[in-house]
Amino acid sequence: MIYHKYIEIDNLEKVQENSLVYVLSLGKLSTGLSILNWNDYTKQCPEVLTSLVRYNMRPTLAAIYVSYSHDASYVHRDYQSKTKNQCRINIPLMNCEGSKTEFYSGGTYNAINQPNGLTYYILEDDSATKVSEVEIIKPTVIRIQEPHRVVTNPERNPRICLSLHTNIDPVFLLT
Ligand SMILES: [Fe+2]
Repeated sequence: MIYHKYIEIDNLEKVQENSLVYVLSLGKLSTGLSILNWNDYTKQCPEVLTSLVRYNMRPTLAAIYVSYSHDASYVHRDYQSKTKNQCRINIPLMNCEGSKTEFYSGGTYNAINQPNGLTYYILEDDSATKVSEVEIIKPTVIRIQEPHRVVTNPERNPRICLSLHTNIDPVFLLT
């Protein structure tokens, strides 16, 4: 299985620059995933709306994943659904060099119901095996339904990564 792939997007530098200006304007950033206010974000960064035109895709939701320390996040699956997107597009905004997004196979998971109706799965033991890893230093398609975690470079933080949900599942790009 292919777990990740670097891709090209349009207006990458503008998307990164304007996304970071917007994110830093939000003040103190809490660790973990935060969904951005779509109208405010796209007003500051209109380039993101057309950044995936070459794939006939458009982003429909943007989130940031922020981490401060070398503590690795838990191995998890964002959700499990055959009808929902298998993948997201992650774009590095700040301090992503030297950090790794690792992918795992196997393992036993605890289901955690979230207020948004999706169930998040978190690894409950050390029975998963690492099968791949990627440094998010370019726009990257990643499988979010497969077990994964972020191991943050302690020398560079906060690490801020943008994560785009799209109208079409970018899984087709994993070839
Ligand atoms: Fe995740």
